Amino acid sequence: MLNKILDASIFWSFDLSGYLRHEKDFDETYEFPKGSHALITGGTSGIGKAATLEMIKHGVVVTITGRSASKGESLLKTHPEIKFKQTDMASWSEFDSLINNIEPLDYLVLNAGGMPEKFSTNDLGVELQFASQLFGHYILAHKLSLAGKLKPGARIVWVTSGGMYLKPLDVTTIYKNDKYDKVETYANVKRAQVTLLPFFKKEFPDQTVTAMHPGWAATPGVDEAIPGFAKTMEGRLRTPLQGADTILWLLSSKKRIESGALYFDRKKVSPHFFWFTKKSEKQREVLENLLRGSVTSKVFSKQQP
Ligand SMILES: NC(=O)c1ccc[n+]([C@@H]2O[C@H](COP(=O)([O-])OP(=O)(O)OC[C@H]3O[C@@H](n4cnc5c(N)ncnc54)[C@H](OP(=O)(O)O)[C@@H]3O)[C@@H](O)[C@H]2O)c1
Repeated sequence: MLNKILDASIFWSFDLSGYLRHEKDFDETYEFPKGSHALITGGTSGIGKAATLEMIKHGVVVTITGRSASKGESLLKTHPEIKFKQTDMASWSEFDSLINNIEPLDYLVLNAGGMPEKFSTNDLGVELQFASQLFGHYILAHKLSLAGKLKPGARIVWVTSGGMYLKPLDVTTIYKNDKYDKVETYANVKRAQVTLLPFFKKEFPDQTVTAMHPGWAATPGVDEAIPGFAKTMEGRLRTPLQGADTILWLLSSKKRIESGALYFDRKKVSPHFFWFTKKSEKQREVLENLLRGSVTSKVFSKQQP
């Protein structure tokens, strides 16, 4: 009963105390076959880096991406077995050279994410958070699949955020947003990822596609994007590895993992806390068509949907 109340509070669920309480029910350790292959976007920092460091301990060959060459190179100094490919997830033309140089994957973690301060778009007119975290990740996964670089049975994990619980999907801001707010846009993009889970399940029938949210973890990204939150929550945030735990579990668990589902602290959870986010479902089709368009047409439409 007390656990249910604490979980419903959100605060004592997403924070460190929530992790420590939930962890008491964890009954599996991470097991990865030595020599298996993983790609982790945004593996140079925070949660992605923690997942990378854990996987290489098990002998997984991990390729990571990030925009900053210096972040990648400094990680490689201490861990030369990691493969780093400088890639901006919003710059879709960069994906081919990443894909051409990668072995068929057992694991794909779509983790890269950030919150640009101001509204800006990629070279095809798509807002940067949408371009990188949603379209970029989908295009990358799609291209990997076409190139035969996603093994049958491979596990794909989208790293979303509990921030989406407060935001119904709004597809009108993909190209233009006069009232751009970085946190609201972030929540919208994370809501989009979760709304599309049934679509991703259909798109990758030979793989298991899930999403997870990490709760609140102390990472360089949180320090930089929301410093006030980081300061207020000092001592109450999860470590990056605790934030990465459900990713690692979803990749390695021997239990039945449900494709198309959202997980938090190793449990399947609902994508909705509040009635007002359920209207997101109505816009799913618009977004599905845009994603299909992003991989079928040479020119991405700049028209507002
Ligand atoms: N920490 C939390 O409490 C929390 C909560 C909910 C969800 N999340 C999610 O967890 C994921 C990781 O976040 P984090 O907290 O670990 O942040 P972080 O420390 O800032 O790490 C983000 C990683 O993504 C990379 N990245 C950002 N934008 C990119 C782009 N356009 N293209 C390629 N790489 C990019 C960064 O490298 P470069 O800057 O060099 O590109 C970095 O490696 C994100 O998806 C975030 O939304 C985190």
